[in-house]
Amino acid sequence: NPYQDLLTDTVGGSVLLLTLNRSDARNALRNNTLRELAAALAQAEQDSAVRVVVITGGPKVFAAGADIKEMAQLDAIGALTDPRPQYWKAIASFSKPLIAAVNGYALGGGCELMMHADIAIAGAGARFGQPEINLGTMPGAGGTQRLIRTVGKPLAMKMVLSGEMLDAAGALAAGLIAEVTADEQTIERALALATTIAAKSPLAVRMAKEALLKSFEMGLDAGLNLERKSFSLLAASADRQEGIAAFLDKRQPVFAGN
Ligand code: HXC
Repeated sequence: NPYQDLLTDTVGGSVLLLTLNRSDARNALRNNTLRELAAALAQAEQDSAVRVVVITGGPKVFAAGADIKEMAQLDAIGALTDPRPQYWKAIASFSKPLIAAVNGYALGGGCELMMHADIAIAGAGARFGQPEINLGTMPGAGGTQRLIRTVGKPLAMKMVLSGEMLDAAGALAAGLIAEVTADEQTIERALALATTIAAKSPLAVRMAKEALLKSFEMGLDAGLNLERKSFSLLAASADRQEGIAAFLDKRQPVFAGN
């Protein structure tokens, strides 16, 4: 394992499981943690065997946010020139599916990390919050922008301005997470979902992810245009011929990735 703050496992040959491994600091995301996450994803991006990545934390804490002790050292210019935004950007630009398996607390940067994932699965005991306001500051890794786009204004305002946490049922109702499981089954369920997605055509998966995410940035007309072009381009892929042929032959498709 080349990492200090992360454990890596390959599951079933096509799913990479990344586990935050700094439980003594409640998986606080120090710069090194984000640097390692970005590096692990950059490697997964290059590795065609990796189809889906699952990120998880510990049983009681997914991640307790930015490392407050590290952040305390930063003045304004330090924060401006900090490498963190570049690591977050690298995580956000990962082109393969990223699934978060969340147990326990996902707070501040931990909740923001979860929102960088494409799908979040959480245990029934999970708690979500943006408590930065309690420290006299505010979210700095997408917690205002991604949260409001995901759960809408009333709840995003309540969470960011009050620091109050949401439980798993509330997060599910708000659309912040996709599923709630029993706490002991969160990782298993996330890996099963990852395995399902890993068996699909990686080209179709990548283009669908891109089109879905671009909806946050594009107007409807431009978004529909991107969707149509991606859909058309996929008609040139061998996997699309295979998928349609398999359906017509009443057999399971085998996607080669081209
Ligand atoms: C650095 C942290 C930390 C954090 C916990 N620790 N969270 N260190 N950064 N975000 C450290 C504690 O200082 C303590 O270290 C050890 O982890 C155990 O913490 P406890 O509080 O005793 O653990 P527990 O009772 O299990 O409670 C877990 C918790 C709580 C509910 C997650 O730790 C918590 O509320 N943490 C802070 C959450 C938060 O405010 N996050 C937002 C971060 S701000 P020692 O050395 O005493 O053992 C952010 C961006 C802005 O994300 C930052 C601007 C400054």
